[in-house]
Amino acid sequence: MYHPMNPFPQPNTPSKFLAIAAALTGAALAGSPALVPLPVAVQPGTGTFGFSAATAIRCDASLRADADLLAADLQARSGVAPKVAAAGSQGNGANEIRLAIDADSKLVAGGYKLDVTAAGVVVTGKDAAGVYYGTRTLLQLLPPMGAAAWRDAAPAPVPALAITDYPRFAWRGMMLDVGRHFYPPEEVKRLIDWMAFHKLNVFHWHLTDDQGWRIEIRKYPKLTQVGGWRDSSPPYGNRDSDDGQRYGGFYTQAQIKDVVAYAAARHITIVPEIEMPGHAAAAITAYPELGNVDVPGYAPKVMTRWGVHPYIFAPTDATLRFLEDVLGEVCELFPSKFIHIGGDEAPKTQWQQSKVAQDVMRREGLKNADELQSWFVRRMGKFLESKGRRLIGWDEIQEGGLSKTATMMVWRDAKWAKHALALGNDVVMATTSHTYFDYYQAPAATELAKGKEYEAIGGLLPLEKVYSYNPTFVADNPAQEKQILGTQAQLWTEYIGDMKKVEYMAFPRVAALAEVAWTPLAAKNYDDFSRRLAGVMKHYDGGHLNYAKPVPPPVRATKDGSTLETSLGSYTDHWPELAFDGRSDTFFWADRSLKSGDHLTLHLKAALAAATPVTVITGGPASQHGDALAAGVLEISADGGTWLTLAEFAAGKASGSAPAGTRHLRLRVTAPQENWLIVHEISLGNPQSLSERR
Ligand code: ACM
Repeated sequence: MYHPMNPFPQPNTPSKFLAIAAALTGAALAGSPALVPLPVAVQPGTGTFGFSAATAIRCDASLRADADLLAADLQARSGVAPKVAAAGSQGNGANEIRLAIDADSKLVAGGYKLDVTAAGVVVTGKDAAGVYYGTRTLLQLLPPMGAAAWRDAAPAPVPALAITDYPRFAWRGMMLDVGRHFYPPEEVKRLIDWMAFHKLNVFHWHLTDDQGWRIEIRKYPKLTQVGGWRDSSPPYGNRDSDDGQRYGGFYTQAQIKDVVAYAAARHITIVPEIEMPGHAAAAITAYPELGNVDVPGYAPKVMTRWGVHPYIFAPTDATLRFLEDVLGEVCELFPSKFIHIGGDEAPKTQWQQSKVAQDVMRREGLKNADELQSWFVRRMGKFLESKGRRLIGWDEIQEGGLSKTATMMVWRDAKWAKHALALGNDVVMATTSHTYFDYYQAPAATELAKGKEYEAIGGLLPLEKVYSYNPTFVADNPAQEKQILGTQAQLWTEYIGDMKKVEYMAFPRVAALAEVAWTPLAAKNYDDFSRRLAGVMKHYDGGHLNYAKPVPPPVRATKDGSTLETSLGSYTDHWPELAFDGRSDTFFWADRSLKSGDHLTLHLKAALAAATPVTVITGGPASQHGDALAAGVLEISADGGTWLTLAEFAAGKASGSAPAGTRHLRLRVTAPQENWLIVHEISLGNPQSLSERR
């Protein structure tokens, strides 16, 4: 899509602009340090600075907290806490990391300069956040945690350079849904650390939903006592069923304050979200009078299935006052200027059925239920303004008219962004197309081949597509570009049961989004990003982050030049060769039901020199039907003409010992079956070696 403000159309920065990008930024593409997000300008120097036990941190008094955090970060790597000294105190000026603020700097908020010479390191920020970002860059320049360089006696090297850097957008965020699954405060803090590593600055905490209310509200204890718990959840691999396990949890106000302070110290603002009027079943279960009690069959419960549910708050004075009470406590806990009131996916069926809701519409002169939602949201907006805050909500909040002061988080479609921009409202770009990290990052079948716990909600959002995002593509002019505050990653957690999986879904896609949000558009280049990301992944490894390691796409070849033939076709790119490629994440997938006599035959490159164990594993979580072989035999042959049965398939598996001289192996179907067929691997030798490769 072309528009005048954006010469770099979606989805990718065209390569002919690369030379311009390099010249503009000074960040040498090849051989520049492995920094993500890419700084605005990097000037290489000569030599290195050596960080050692003797290195001290010197800072302005106002930066003491930032200096202490840096000292702790350095101690986590080196084992030694650097001494923190006040600026102006006695020091020899050498072997120091100096932190200072230059408020007169021309840089925008969050900007910094980082100067590394053999003598020392100087970080000068436009503000304290800028200083902090400079120290994040410094940490990326140091060897990764756990690296050998930290264990030997020599100082840890930092390459000499001069960096000038500042963010493209003021809103660089990540949303975590803790309604569908709950993560303890210590795990949330660790996630915040990794956000900080990528210079993100907004943690959008989705605290309430149909399946759980997770924030203690003093005035309404049942919100967490009742609304914090559900009777069952869908298990991985079968979203239309129930595990029957009671599940829940919530954050106390003390825990919330602690996490807010932890984030603030890392220059991350927490934007809390309290969902209304929809996604409210947990709250309504706790206090049934909050709902549309006059609709037929009214019986709220904390939801045990994902999806969109009909229970929404009633538009009554009592319920609106309840929500103001809740937001009042929320404002006490969260200093954020923005408070998120949800607003997405609120089915209007109950409002249409409720006489009480219909009466409110008549009383207020509202034409339809969308206008009723806008009326509801406007009242919340006024309340938040009375507390000095600003309302933000998902893009549905504009469907019945949008208040001038509301900020929109656009998730569905660019047209909603255009609509809000034209009205003059601010926008945060959070579109499903590029920021929904609950989508698969590799094809579903590839992910599910690893196990059903790799299930995602659906979709496909690979790293490269995230990287290609340009949040301002919806703007028609410079004024509208300014209305776009930034962008954020969405981690909806229906299919993210624990923090390990959060990490897997979030990283490295967060790295790509961080660069979208920080780095000038003209300087972005995916190949260079990939090169730098490889270096950043060493920091992930050092910090034991459970990121998704890039997997090469399947190649249509066996591991050793052996060949396969089959009577079956291949479903998409699940070629027969993938059954003998030595990879556990790839597989042959037939494209139809099986007939007796169908086969998959492997012609080995060379006959077996000695008796060798053979294992054939069929079926896998990539298919919701399993697609294992129900009835069949594993046969062997020396000449391809005379065949011997080695084993029968049972539970989708066959194994035996093939004698020396075996040259051909055949899986032969002995009874028709409705399901298709997955053959993960024909393994020769110890089948353990397959799982070790995982
Ligand atoms: C959303 O994904 N319902 C905002």
